Amino acid sequence: MHQRPLAATGRSVSTIGLGTWQLGADWGDVSEADALDVLATSVEAGVTLFDTADVYGDGRSETLIGRFLAEHPGHGITVATKMGRRMDQVPENYTAGNFRAWTDRSRSNLGVDTLDLVQLHCPPSAVIDADETYDALDALVADGAIAAYGVSVETCAQALSAISRPGITNVQIIFNPFRLKPLDEVLPAADAAGVAIFARVPLASGLLSGRYTASTSFAGNDHRSYNRNGEAFDRGETFSGVDYETGLVAADELSAALPDGVSLPAASLAWIASRPGVTSVIPGARTTAQAQSNAAAGLIDPATLDTFAAAVADVYDRRLRADIHPQW
Ligand SMILES: NC(=O)c1ccc[n+]([C@@H]2O[C@H](COP(=O)([O-])OP(=O)(O)OC[C@H]3O[C@@H](n4cnc5c(N)ncnc54)[C@H](OP(=O)(O)O)[C@@H]3O)[C@@H](O)[C@H]2O)c1
Repeated sequence: MHQRPLAATGRSVSTIGLGTWQLGADWGDVSEADALDVLATSVEAGVTLFDTADVYGDGRSETLIGRFLAEHPGHGITVATKMGRRMDQVPENYTAGNFRAWTDRSRSNLGVDTLDLVQLHCPPSAVIDADETYDALDALVADGAIAAYGVSVETCAQALSAISRPGITNVQIIFNPFRLKPLDEVLPAADAAGVAIFARVPLASGLLSGRYTASTSFAGNDHRSYNRNGEAFDRGETFSGVDYETGLVAADELSAALPDGVSLPAASLAWIASRPGVTSVIPGARTTAQAQSNAAAGLIDPATLDTFAAAVADVYDRRLRADIHPQW
């Protein structure tokens, strides 16, 4: 697995990391034993970045990661957590006092004195644009509660605002073959500023697994059942905001352009990881098989992906751009 510098932190992280929303909630049931196995399998395959959040299972994901870290001293893993979605996402809640309380809880859940990296979890634009936000985050760095901070965003405009801040380590944004707008300005700006990009929802919530059909169903406690139209949170977080039936057709078309022996999810992850400006891709995995195959995608030679890359641009332009590009 290739490792890349994490901005100016002095740390390196794997080009394929692990998203751990699945190990908290909202994706059907994942047992504690299975969750710990997914973490172990990923690390054995060279993954050195876990992405989590205080709100995933209201701390379950962080707590399981904390247990894993305690059982693996000298692990070399960077944990990127997030804060700010256990309260209403209104500007008044993003205070220095709340930042302190939220990070204290995550430090306890993860069993660490200093959080490696904490990302604001899709706050309102007014929070991303405010000097006070960064003053409060800088204060947490200064007294050792966190080592670095970043922002997880919904839109490219929010990403560009965050990237313009000097103290930022990373921006986390949805970027995948069904969501190409970050290629226009966000990735070049991050590259120029030395800000790391974490590409989330890289498999469009599984649509880019290529194994769903019109009759695939999801558990009632899975957001792919209850958030298709943005009923619980931003619609873009479920299937990347792509209409499900359109996504099935688009995934089929991409499957026709795969290199021999490479699966659609593996090609998607390798393509994302090889775009200039991306530091790490953070697919979620519910099983060890998924975790293993996602990590292995980090070894695919990008030079083998030219036909796939052309298909990504073509399918996006024909089927998705008009709907997706203006929204995020
Ligand atoms: N606001 C935010 O900051 C935010 C929002 C969303 C996500 N995230 C982070 O980003 C991470 C990744 O995004 P995501 O989990 O939402 O979406 P994703 O990575 O695009 O999709 C994950 C789903 O894809 C399927 N999958 C994964 N690996 C596979 C493989 N090798 N073969 C076939 N299918 C595979 C699984 O679906 P099945 O469940 O059907 O098996 C899995 O649950 C999250 O875990 C979280 O850490 C952050």
